[in-house]
Amino acid sequence: MNRKLIAGNWKMNASLAGNTALVQAVLAGIGDAACDAAVCVPAPYLAQVQGLLAGSTLALGAQDVSSHEAGAYTGEVSAAMLREFGVRYAIVGHSERRQYHGEDDAVVAEKARQALAAGITPIVCVGETLAQRESGATEEVVKRQMAAVIHTNGHCISEIVVAYEPVWAIGTGKTASPEQAQQVHAVLRTQIKAATSQPGRVRILYGGSMNAANAAQLLAQPDIDGGLIGGASLKPADFLSIISAASNAA
Ligand code: 13P
Repeated sequence: MNRKLIAGNWKMNASLAGNTALVQAVLAGIGDAACDAAVCVPAPYLAQVQGLLAGSTLALGAQDVSSHEAGAYTGEVSAAMLREFGVRYAIVGHSERRQYHGEDDAVVAEKARQALAAGITPIVCVGETLAQRESGATEEVVKRQMAAVIHTNGHCISEIVVAYEPVWAIGTGKTASPEQAQQVHAVLRTQIKAATSQPGRVRILYGGSMNAANAAQLLAQPDIDGGLIGGASLKPADFLSIISAASNAA
């Protein structure tokens, strides 16, 4: 079985002083955790956080990557640039980018491709809105989102991480129940198994109001291989407690 992965997504919450305090507090408590852990930080702070993480077991991640390799794309950050700062993971297709920045399935699949080509593990986010869940379309939506990534990346998808993030659970304090999450993770697992000869390498994370209180139950599900943590990753004690739950579930 894969080691579980706990990745913090700081979103647009950071400052030089705040980052130092947060990372130092996490590193002080992480010990030799029996899971993998990462923080996905806003691009301007990559160099700073790379320095803070040097020699530690906490990996560096980005929150997005360009779907283009290089060139006249003002404001974009390429996978090769991220790689220069020691980035190991890049979130792609987060629902906030799909919703507010118009990213469609094809763009998300290209972003995953760019990350993989630069040796960065894309954390591909999929998930349904509340309206889609209520109309019974959850499976169809997440399978369509995954299918685009599989179509563009072929056998390379054994190198990705997937994050199931129901949109209605993000930042709302509403979490999918362990059973609801497991059900969707099992669907994604089946889809991945059909697409690669090495499905066992692919970790499927749950994201959406995962916190210190509910992490253990979610991580105990057979197809939940870790978490993508928003709000709770900004609080060192809470983030450490989720890392500890993942270590115990390993
Ligand atoms: P919250 O943990 O704040 O709900 O955010 C989840 C998320 O979007 C992680 O990418």
